[in-house]
Amino acid sequence: MSTSEVTVIGLGTLGAALAAALIRTGHRVTVWNRTPAKADALVAQGAARADTVAEAVAASPLLIVCVFDTAAVRELIGPYGSALSGKAVVNLTTGSPEEARSLAEWAAARGISYLDGAVMAVPEAVGTPDAFVLYSGSREVFDAHRRSLDSLGASHFLGTDAGVAEFHDLGLLSAGYATMTGFLHAAALVGTAGVTARDFLPLATSWLTGVVAFLADLAREVDSGDYAGGASSVAINQVAVGNIVRASRAAGIAPDVLLPLKELLDTGAADGNGSDSFASLVELLRR
Ligand SMILES: NC(=O)c1ccc[n+]([C@@H]2O[C@H](COP(=O)([O-])OP(=O)(O)OC[C@H]3O[C@@H](n4cnc5c(N)ncnc54)[C@H](OP(=O)(O)O)[C@@H]3O)[C@@H](O)[C@H]2O)c1
Repeated sequence: MSTSEVTVIGLGTLGAALAAALIRTGHRVTVWNRTPAKADALVAQGAARADTVAEAVAASPLLIVCVFDTAAVRELIGPYGSALSGKAVVNLTTGSPEEARSLAEWAAARGISYLDGAVMAVPEAVGTPDAFVLYSGSREVFDAHRRSLDSLGASHFLGTDAGVAEFHDLGLLSAGYATMTGFLHAAALVGTAGVTARDFLPLATSWLTGVVAFLADLAREVDSGDYAGGASSVAINQVAVGNIVRASRAAGIAPDVLLPLKELLDTGAADGNGSDSFASLVELLRR
């Protein structure tokens, strides 16, 4: 069997997009989905339909699994440990780092090469330059199937610990959620002055571009553990965030998304670290 044969198990919104991208890039794709009708469009594009999971497992040396959660992954491939022996499993189902590590252990005990992955793209972007996919686990699988993986989006191998890709996924989502909820709070706040979110957007975009540039300073301080002399101290941010919370309440806007940050800044200042840089808050998160 060549590395251009791929089986995709799970044809939900994302799984179907993965299979379609593989078909477009010339792979011989076998597909299986619990609800068989979801395979129809892919079969029309050239995929082979597997009627059972056993058939899907047998069809290709590389099995990509993308289902709802890790419990579904276990339910699906759990009974096929010996049939999968010697094959490569790439699991693109979102799960926790611990779930990824536990699946990697399960696979290793059965001679299955396991690569965990996190798709950092909406289904529509799969196979375009906007998509990237994070991988960790078997370096051999990553290298051997790189061409297939690259057809889904830019591939990043992050380490042989299978949990590392999921940690990155969670970290990126965390940073994204903080930005989005901050924007929603800001839009509600300026909205009380009659400003639409759309009108606010150019200034928000310009400001956030500067914030992104500032992340390099934060990263350097976090890695060095040296929080002296940073441009933005705990004390100055304590005042700023206190102002936002008070002004929000006065305007009738809930300051909830800022309250955890206010608590961290208050704790940092109460601990006597007011002159340390903003990045020092990471030490409170690690406590
Ligand atoms: N959609 C996105 O934007 C996106 C982006 C990045 C990561 N992800 C992750 O990708 C994974 C799939 O997402 P999705 O958007 O494709 O979800 P989805 O559209 O809800 O599809 C879920 C898939 O899982 C299958 N499934 C669920 N439980 C099953 C079980 N017990 N046995 C067999 N199959 C089962 C479903 O089969 P049926 O068709 O039979 O219901 C369907 O194929 C999730 O882990 C999600 O977090 C999604």
